[in-house]
Amino acid sequence: MHKADRCAIVGSMATTKTIDIRTDIPGPRSREIIERKQRVVADPLSLTFPIVIERGEGARLTDVDGNTFIDFSGGVGCLNVGHSHPRVVEAAQEQLERFSHTDFTIVPYEVYVRLAERLCELAPIANAKASFFNAGTEAVENAIKFARSYTKRPAVIAFEGGFHGRTLLALSMTSKTHPYKAGLGPFAPEVYRVPFPNDYRGPSAQEALAALERALVTQVAAETVAAIVVEPVQGEGGFLVAPQEFMDGARRLCDEHGIVMVVDEVQTGFARTGKFLAIEHYGVEPDLITVAKSIAMGLPLSGVIGKAEIMDAPGDSAIGGTYVGNPVAQAAGLAVLDVIADENLCARATAIGDQLRERMLAWQERFERVGNVRGLGAMLAIELVEDAESKEPAAELASAVTDEAAKRGLLLLKSGIYSNCIRVLTPLTLSDPELEEALGVWEEALEAALSG
Ligand SMILES: Cc1ncc(COP(=O)(O)O)c(C=O)c1O
Repeated sequence: MHKADRCAIVGSMATTKTIDIRTDIPGPRSREIIERKQRVVADPLSLTFPIVIERGEGARLTDVDGNTFIDFSGGVGCLNVGHSHPRVVEAAQEQLERFSHTDFTIVPYEVYVRLAERLCELAPIANAKASFFNAGTEAVENAIKFARSYTKRPAVIAFEGGFHGRTLLALSMTSKTHPYKAGLGPFAPEVYRVPFPNDYRGPSAQEALAALERALVTQVAAETVAAIVVEPVQGEGGFLVAPQEFMDGARRLCDEHGIVMVVDEVQTGFARTGKFLAIEHYGVEPDLITVAKSIAMGLPLSGVIGKAEIMDAPGDSAIGGTYVGNPVAQAAGLAVLDVIADENLCARATAIGDQLRERMLAWQERFERVGNVRGLGAMLAIELVEDAESKEPAAELASAVTDEAAKRGLLLLKSGIYSNCIRVLTPLTLSDPELEEALGVWEEALEAALSG
């Protein structure tokens, strides 16, 4: 196995340097595995980073060539407690040794019930019940099943820029043609889409609310709408934060028309925004909440938590699936909840977010092409533009920055409908020196990409 050269990070971060840097990733072992991958794995599973992981620990991962990286991609938001947290590993191992599967509805197990109890207590919904699935997309699809069964109505309203998954109904709700939807229709019927507020580009919260109300006149009758599905902070949409007024307005419209308010917390959940769930920032009680990603440190697990009368509405066996609510993932999920509480990860997310925001705002001052800084807690992003006045999205610049950062040992992900935002999904267990170091690398990558 090839060991990366250890080089000094130039500039102010040199004293805190802990990342191995190489400028010619992929290393030979990664390259060899990726070449094999290209022969036997379907092409649509294209790779963001040309590196193959050997192991992960906390906020770092090491590739098969011995390079280490600070991982701001966090498994696309699944690793709020970090890679391989020992308490989560131990809980999963212990469960795996006892049993790995029965199908909960054939032979139930207590860990399912315990996780439901814990999440129902934590979610800001009175008299809640829960059910578990595997992926975020399944949680969203099942939330719609609950809402349709309860309301006996077909229609769903989702938002521009929203991302809810890749299975048919969730993909129909997802709002990005390339790469997600193009060529994959026909999509599920009865999905209607309205604009999401965007402080930087518009519409305002008032305009977006007006568009939502207008949609009930021009697109779909309110009495046929089962659910409005909203992300408190749009994840794939570029970390757009829903304004308070907008969430209040959405709640009011749902109440007025008997519509189920579904809050998709798949990306925002589990302390990422500084609260256990992002909806807690708003003081709004949703009807259903979807969760996944960081629920179980990346083991496949998702859930719907919601008002009991809605959760109880579908007929017997209308909800379920062979693998849903896997006990190993659920044991991991219980440990994740303990880690979030014991390590004060909500407070840590806020502290990380404060440091990130300060640095990002300094970049915005210094570099005209950093057009916008936004987010909630540690869920922060910068939006890159061609120039401050036109705000034309600069997707190529965003790619150049993430490439430069990866070469220097920092894994960053893009997002946004124009793929011109760079977001932070770091493990919340990252240390202050790691954060400082990552920000130094990011700054260097910005400088390199802007001068390139
Ligand atoms: C808000 C939101 N909902 C749903 C999903 C779909 O989750 P999964 O990829 O686990 O199906 C995602 C994935 O990124 C998401 O960010």
